[in-house]
Amino acid sequence: MTKNVYKQDTGVDRAQRESLNNHKATALWFTGLSGSGKSTIAAHLQTQLLESGIHCYMLDGDNIRLGINSDLDFTSEGRKENIRRIAEIAKLFVDSGTVVLCSFISPMLADRQAARDIIGTDDFTEVFVDCPLEICEQRDVKGLYARARKGEIPNFTGIDSPYEKPENAEITVHSDQDSIETCSNKILTELLNKIKS
Ligand code: ADX
Repeated sequence: MTKNVYKQDTGVDRAQRESLNNHKATALWFTGLSGSGKSTIAAHLQTQLLESGIHCYMLDGDNIRLGINSDLDFTSEGRKENIRRIAEIAKLFVDSGTVVLCSFISPMLADRQAARDIIGTDDFTEVFVDCPLEICEQRDVKGLYARARKGEIPNFTGIDSPYEKPENAEITVHSDQDSIETCSNKILTELLNKIKS
């Protein structure tokens, strides 16, 4: 499929953009059940980064699925392609010198590994937002669990579709025990160490 296509040198590289920004670029990959707090924590972190003068951008499951990935469903193939495209997008953000916060259920170990391989393991920090299914279901912020239990949403993660917990996440936060601020601060400390120039 990529026959007769060659990588083009665009003349400006990542190191130059990082130097302009005064910090390094990287990707944080938030994974966890729907309702675990991934996007809430990532959004809080994004504000903290902005206030610290860090160039950052957040990619979120619902938003991406309303746009570039609106052609994809929640079958295992749909999710795999969702994650593949997002990883390619995140890789571009890293190359642009940006800290990119990726918030996706990304339930399969193999798909997250594929994302790590695309982005590059040095630029990939997996953040497991650990929260028991019962708590996510009790919260049911979007009312989706109730609908999934009624059989209205097929392949719903945690109900009739699996979630494979990370085995070696670089960072784990417990959003059922700790506040959004505590979770976000824990990630911020590790992130700032990684991106200081
Ligand atoms: S992923 O599994 O492919 O990584 P993604 O993070 O993009 O999922 O999208 C998850 C969001 O889509 C959820 O927060 C929820 O609002 C919505 N959604 C709709 N249908 C499903 C489903 N079958 N399983 C999980 N989430 C769903």
